[in-house]
Parts: sequence; structure tokens; C-alpha cells
Amino acid sequence: MDIKQIFKNNEAWISKHRESNDHYFEKLSEGQAPSILYIGCSDSRVTAEEIMGLQPGDVFVHRNIANLVPNTDLSAMSVINYAVSVLKVDHVVVCGHYGCGGIKAAMESSDLGILNPWLRNIRDVYRIHRAELDAITDEHQRYQRLAELNVQEQCINTIKTAEVQRAISERQLTVHGWIFDISTGTLKDLNIDFVGIMKDFVQIYTIGYKQ
Ligand code: CO
Repeated sequence: MDIKQIFKNNEAWISKHRESNDHYFEKLSEGQAPSILYIGCSDSRVTAEEIMGLQPGDVFVHRNIANLVPNTDLSAMSVINYAVSVLKVDHVVVCGHYGCGGIKAAMESSDLGILNPWLRNIRDVYRIHRAELDAITDEHQRYQRLAELNVQEQCINTIKTAEVQRAISERQLTVHGWIFDISTGTLKDLNIDFVGIMKDFVQIYTIGYKQ
């Protein structure tokens, strides 16, 4: 890729927006009020706004390898805190994708340096759901299912945070688990039943807000 082309692309993009709305950038610079926090994978094929048909200003975005929400990750925790407590988003989306390199790497027995502790979060997801995953004989299908279960567990990590619990209690914030299929371009809602899944252990993580 010719890196200079990017600046030409940028000029064309400015012209396109100015043609349809003369004040597009003036309006954009006034501030942001997104209603969605999107937590997705850094994978170059899984963009945020583009796959959702949204525009700058519509969605607050956090992306990392394998769309993880580790409880001690300052970056993810800061993004959730700011999006929920300050921007007051109505929806938090954790979006995984099939064919995720992070998921695959976590399932291989090799030393990946600094990636080891990061990917260990995915190994923990495997441990929690080992019975279901080990019962899937097809390796490809097992990876796909692990990508879905990883979304579920990262949503649960999101629900463990104080600000999300407060927002669910006070203004019906909703958490969604989605998966993107790169091979078809399809975005799928996993329709995760958090109340049902968490009913046996929700009290362990409840920190004072009535759900
Ligand atoms: Co990925």
C-alpha cells in the first residue's frame, strides 16, 4: 500500500461529506454522544463502524486481540468506565468473529512471549466450558464455538464491573454478545441469556446495585 494514498483518500472523504452536508465536520467537532460501546477484535477484517453501517460519532470503540475484557486490563476498564459513566451509552456490545487468530493461537501449545498472559484469558474460557468444547469432534467447529463462548465470558466480565451494574440497575443498559462471520459478512446476535447463565453465581459478583 502506498501510504501517501491515504492522505488522498482523506481529501476525497472530506469532499464527499462536505458535498452532502456543508457543516458535517463543524457538527462532528461539537462533541460526541454515541449510544453504543463496541468491544471487538483488532483483526483488520473486522471493522467496527463499517460492518454496522454506522458513521463517526455513532459508536465508542475498543478493540484488542480476541476482544477480551480482562478484569485488570486498565485500557478495557477505562473504556467501559468512560463510555458507561460519562457518555452514558445505552448498549455495550462485545463482538467476536469466526476465524479469530487470537482464539487459534491460544489453543496451540507454543510460547508466544508477551501474548501468553493475554491469550491465557482464552484458555480460561476453554477450561470453564471444557465439557461442551471437548464434545465437539470437528476442530474447526470447536474453534468457532470457542469464539462464541469467549464473547459470552467477556460479556460476563463486562457485567462484573461496578459502572455496568449501576447502569443496568438505574437506566436499563443492555449488554449484547455478537459474532461476525468474515466468510459471509454476516453479523449475528448470539442472544445470550445473561440472567439465566449468571443466575447461579450472580450474587458472587454483585456489588450493591439492585438488578
Ligand atoms: Co480476532
